[in-house]
Amino acid sequence: MRLVIEVLLSAIIVLAQGKAVPDDTVSSYQNGSKLVQPVYSTLSLGSIKPLGWFKDQLELEAAGLGGNMFDFYRFVHDARWIGGSTEYSALDEASPYWFNGLVPLAFGLGDTRIKSQVKYYLDYVLNHQQSDGWLGFETTRATRGLWARCLLLLGMIQYAEADPTETNRIVDAMHRYVILAHSMLQNNYTGLIVHGNDTFDTAGFGVGRTHEMHIPLQWLYEKYPRNNSQVIWETMELMIAGGVSWGADWRDFWVEGVYPTVLYDSTPYNLSWVFIHGVNMAEGLRYPLSIYRMTDDEALKTQTRTAVDLLAKYHRSIAGTIIADEYISDLNPSRGAELCIAAEVMFSSAYIYQYLGDNDIADWTEQTAFNALPVSVSPDWWSHQYIQQENQPCCTVNHPQAYPKFLANSVVGTADGGLAHVFLIATDVATTLDNDNAVFISVNTTYPFGLSLTYTISAASAFPFYVRIPTWAESTSTISGPKSGPATLVSPSDQGLQKVNIPAGESTTFTIQLETQPRVLTRANNTAAVYYGALLYSLAITFNSSETAPRNYRTEAVLDNSTIDEHCHDHIITPTSPWNIAIDPSQISVVYANDMNELPNPIWELGAPPVELRIAAVEIEWPTAFDTAADPPVDVKVTGTPFSARFVPYGSAKLHMAHLPVIALPTVDLVE
Ligand SMILES: *[C@@H]1O[C@H](CO)[C@@H](O)[C@H](O)[C@H]1NC(C)=O
Ligand SMILES: *[C@@H]1O[C@H](CO)[C@@H](O)[C@H](O)[C@H]1NC(C)=O
Ligand SMILES: *[C@@H]1O[C@H](CO)[C@@H](O)[C@H](O)[C@H]1NC(C)=O
Ligand SMILES: *[C@@H]1O[C@H](CO)[C@@H](O)[C@H](O)[C@H]1NC(C)=O
Ligand SMILES: *[C@@H]1O[C@H](CO)[C@@H](O)[C@H](O)[C@H]1NC(C)=O
Ligand SMILES: *[C@@H]1O[C@H](CO)[C@@H](O)[C@H](O)[C@H]1NC(C)=O
Ligand SMILES: *[C@@H]1O[C@H](CO)[C@@H](O)[C@H](O)[C@H]1NC(C)=O
Ligand SMILES: *[C@@H]1O[C@H](CO)[C@@H](O)[C@H](O)[C@H]1NC(C)=O
Ligand SMILES: *[C@@H]1O[C@H](CO)[C@@H](O)[C@H](O)[C@H]1NC(C)=O
Repeated sequence: MRLVIEVLLSAIIVLAQGKAVPDDTVSSYQNGSKLVQPVYSTLSLGSIKPLGWFKDQLELEAAGLGGNMFDFYRFVHDARWIGGSTEYSALDEASPYWFNGLVPLAFGLGDTRIKSQVKYYLDYVLNHQQSDGWLGFETTRATRGLWARCLLLLGMIQYAEADPTETNRIVDAMHRYVILAHSMLQNNYTGLIVHGNDTFDTAGFGVGRTHEMHIPLQWLYEKYPRNNSQVIWETMELMIAGGVSWGADWRDFWVEGVYPTVLYDSTPYNLSWVFIHGVNMAEGLRYPLSIYRMTDDEALKTQTRTAVDLLAKYHRSIAGTIIADEYISDLNPSRGAELCIAAEVMFSSAYIYQYLGDNDIADWTEQTAFNALPVSVSPDWWSHQYIQQENQPCCTVNHPQAYPKFLANSVVGTADGGLAHVFLIATDVATTLDNDNAVFISVNTTYPFGLSLTYTISAASAFPFYVRIPTWAESTSTISGPKSGPATLVSPSDQGLQKVNIPAGESTTFTIQLETQPRVLTRANNTAAVYYGALLYSLAITFNSSETAPRNYRTEAVLDNSTIDEHCHDHIITPTSPWNIAIDPSQISVVYANDMNELPNPIWELGAPPVELRIAAVEIEWPTAFDTAADPPVDVKVTGTPFSARFVPYGSAKLHMAHLPVIALPTVDLVE
């Protein structure tokens, strides 16, 4: 959809230009300026390897669309970035998005085929760095936009961490580039704000995302500043100043009273469009913190919490993403969300969690990872929900980052020199803590399907280890070990961390058993959604599925097969069981599979997850609108008799009804 919006908005954007001459006093750099440190630090990419169902998912991603775009998807395969001739827009962002997602996939999984793809791309881009330092193929002022370089650099710093043999080359290239970017920005924000006939960003996507340069440049500033600290620092400040002068200062938006709680065509709204675009919002959540790292202004940290809360209250979906059909409107479940919003929400919430340390924010990342993201991807990872990929290029190239980065953020360093397991998927971690303390951790769990986690840890010397106890876990949750004796109740800190002192030696083991009950979230108009643990549940709807050749979403013409692969189809999924129900959330039972240890692969497929719910329900009158379920009816009219409805994890239900009217029903036998 990005393409369409870009065209529609280009006329409006002209109005948004204000003062755009850099202020000479913009630099706050002082010799020795330090960045604020996170509460939880990330480990080097590649230290954390996936296990269990999550490993299956990354392997499916590598074998599916994400891992094959390099071979057939023209916006990657034939990208101008690597000597080809195809870009989907003047933003030139497709293959940099892809690179940013495939680097953590390659090194998270340790997959040689994917590694060779990203190595080819890295080599090509670095070998073709232009003599003035520009990274990319553009040669004119009109076409050289900085935005796509933010994505490229994000990919490059991950690469530099994962493969030390490339670090110097990458750092060299970044320094040459940042000197050029600095001089461009000093010249009336060239490359950021379009002037005259510039074509690189006529809508304002890059200028609305100026903080995206900060993660790579802050990495460079801290780890490899060489003699270039001032230039790096000022480049970040110039990015922000340019965006501010254009009218894109997210500090003006994440403010109670300014933030639009509902937004319809008729709602008065006088800030730039950039703020109300779902993907921008998911990214803009990180804007205050990127500045906070440089200014240590606590108000920006507070504002980040406000941003998270405003979004949660007014636009966060029950599955964790942002409800925004491109633009936010209200919370009605008939509205959708782009897949790449979920990918960006996962990355932003994981990042924010590392700076704020608030337990519920880590729950949010898991909520999105286990619900909103998988529901939009086919079980085999070859298709995503916006069937026709040609009209959703950003989601096609941007979805692959979600799970690899979730893995990379699943275990973090703590301020006391220890480690914390914060996203509770099964992993192996090999890392070295202070004083050359080599540590190896293996987590055996089927979380979020099973709620028990068994840790086996070896360490050269003792260190503090932590397990995050989700906010929904009951106080009856227990820990057994590491010393023998009966299981004891968990006693997490205010941040939700359960501390375990790991002694020196081989194979210290302990088990955390999380306890929880189904939870009912009530929403407007007497509606509700049901969760159990980290999973949202949906009515199981059986369906007929057919495949057709992919079509252009506007003209419906069958696509030229030069742009597709034999695996690409449009899927048409039609319900064959009722979907129009109201539920009685006072009647819920949990049903487990006989074998909770062996999970099917793929897991995000109807019937595959080993945990289901049964909820008392009844069929009701529920009209359709625009070929889908209308908003939940306010006057509920029953049309059937109460029955035990089968509910399954939302991510496995590609057809789903999860936000339902509530009704009181007589007691129903909740059959298995
Ligand atoms: C910056 O600080 C370092 C150490 O504090 C010092 O060695 C160096 O000379 C300073 N550089 C400048 C340009 O002041
Ligand atoms: C800077 O750019 C703005 C916006 O295009 C333009 O109005 C202004 O004249 C430029 N200033 C200079 C000094 O070039
Ligand atoms: C913009 O493009 C038009 C048409 O190519 C050209 O006549 C004009 O000089 C250009 N303006 C600038 C500022 O480059
Ligand atoms: C570092 O930069 C300063 C100021 O630009 C310069 O005087 C100094 O010679 C540089 N040092 C190195 C080692 O390049
Ligand atoms: C529009 O902007 C003005 C001036 O900044 C502000 O006072 C007003 O509250 C804004 N209106 C809305 C609807 O946001
Ligand atoms: C509640 O129902 C009213 C009336 O149908 C509707 O206008 C409104 O959008 C609904 N609100 C939500 C949040 O679903
Ligand atoms: C993980 O735990 C399950 C259940 O206790 C057990 O069956 C399985 O063998 C364990 N796997 C590993 C690799 O230890
Ligand atoms: C496109 O598909 C048709 C039908 O399968 C086939 O005959 C043709 O060779 C294909 N063209 C390309 C460019 O792959
Ligand atoms: C589903 O497919 C079967 C077999 O093709 C067909 O008999 C049935 O009518 C279809 N059901 C619906 C609701 O489309």
